[in-house]
Amino acid sequence: MTVLITGGAGFIGSNFVLDWMGASGEPVINVDKLTYAGNVANLAPLAGDARHVFVQADIADQPRLEQLLAEHRPRAIVNFAAESHVDRSIHGAGDFVQTNVVGTFHLLQAALGYWRDTLGRDSSFRFLHVSTDEVYGSLGPDDAAFSETTAYAPNSPYSASKAASDHLVRAWHHTYGMPVLTTNCSNNYGPLQFPEKLIPLMISKALAGEPLPVYGDGKNVRDWLYVGDHCSAIRAVLARGTPGEVYNVGGNSERQNIEVVHTLCRILDELAPAREPYSRLITYVTDRPGHDRRYAIDARKIARELGWEPSVAFEDGMRRTVQWYLDNADWVKAVQSGEYRQWLDVNYVRR
Ligand code: NAD
Ligand code: TYD
Repeated sequence: MTVLITGGAGFIGSNFVLDWMGASGEPVINVDKLTYAGNVANLAPLAGDARHVFVQADIADQPRLEQLLAEHRPRAIVNFAAESHVDRSIHGAGDFVQTNVVGTFHLLQAALGYWRDTLGRDSSFRFLHVSTDEVYGSLGPDDAAFSETTAYAPNSPYSASKAASDHLVRAWHHTYGMPVLTTNCSNNYGPLQFPEKLIPLMISKALAGEPLPVYGDGKNVRDWLYVGDHCSAIRAVLARGTPGEVYNVGGNSERQNIEVVHTLCRILDELAPAREPYSRLITYVTDRPGHDRRYAIDARKIARELGWEPSVAFEDGMRRTVQWYLDNADWVKAVQSGEYRQWLDVNYVRR
């Protein structure tokens, strides 16, 4: 048995691959284009492990995907590969449409041919598409949390491109009968997150003594989930999810951005004290255009049907995360300087 993972050199994908290899002997084919967000150094603990095969490829390269599927015959595909940062999507949506929409289409086509022609429509095959709660749009303060039946209303180029990919995945089930699963998850945080997203950005700026840029009034709400809990949810859906179904994944940890930043400052004051409290660095800046006000996930379906619940409380996860960034200053430095691109030459990368 083998599973094929896409985007496994990014934040969640590399956490997933490392967890998977720790928990199971099943080989992983890890297909990643290695954009700015892909970092094979994340996978360094697996160097020399023959069960992990890393292939540098684009999910939009359908012939290459067809060849990899025929060669490795995976029992499942888990699709993490995407352009993932909202601010980047505002400044240039082209890569988001190309990878998240066109790329997912080509991956689905390759998977369909493989499942239908090579596997003879084997009903145990799974195509798991990893998506976001941002496809549901923005909530008011008193609105009920997003459920699997909430209507899609994406507002950013990022969320619109993810919504389009979710619709393609859904259609490949309804039209061709492919055994697909979709997960829509809330904001993740934890080790190995690229320091452009709120939490790692604030940690690295605070440690550098730079201003902490809080957008707008700082009262936008996100529902935070520790990345290890997202990985366990995906494993549960892959193992026990019903084909064609959607599962929302969340941490029951709604926080205003300003609360998140104050929590980080408090933990940093304790673990890496500076001359002044880190909260002095908080600076309100111009809001993000179209900034969604609130996300919140109703994760009762995955709890009820698959027995999954988050296991890491927000304060605990934040403390672990800050400690990881303190212990891995070299990783942050290499990412910020661009030095991590040199890891492209390590010998376990197949082009
Ligand atoms: P990330 O940006 O850290 O990593 C994305 C990875 O995909 C990178 O390794 C990159 O090289 C790779 N990639 C990009 N384009 C590719 C292409 N065309 N072909 C092959 N590989 C390509 O993203 P992340 O935060 O790890 O998110 C992973 C997935 O989870 C995404 O689909 C995202 O939409 C979803 N998601 C993320 C969050 C979050 O909070 N980060 C929450 C819910 C869902
Ligand atoms: P982000 O980590 O980019 O995730 P997303 O936009 O996908 O939810 O941002 C999380 C929240 O933090 C979001 O409301 C925007 C806000 N934010 C800031 O206030 N300052 C920043 O520098 C960044 C990157 C985000």
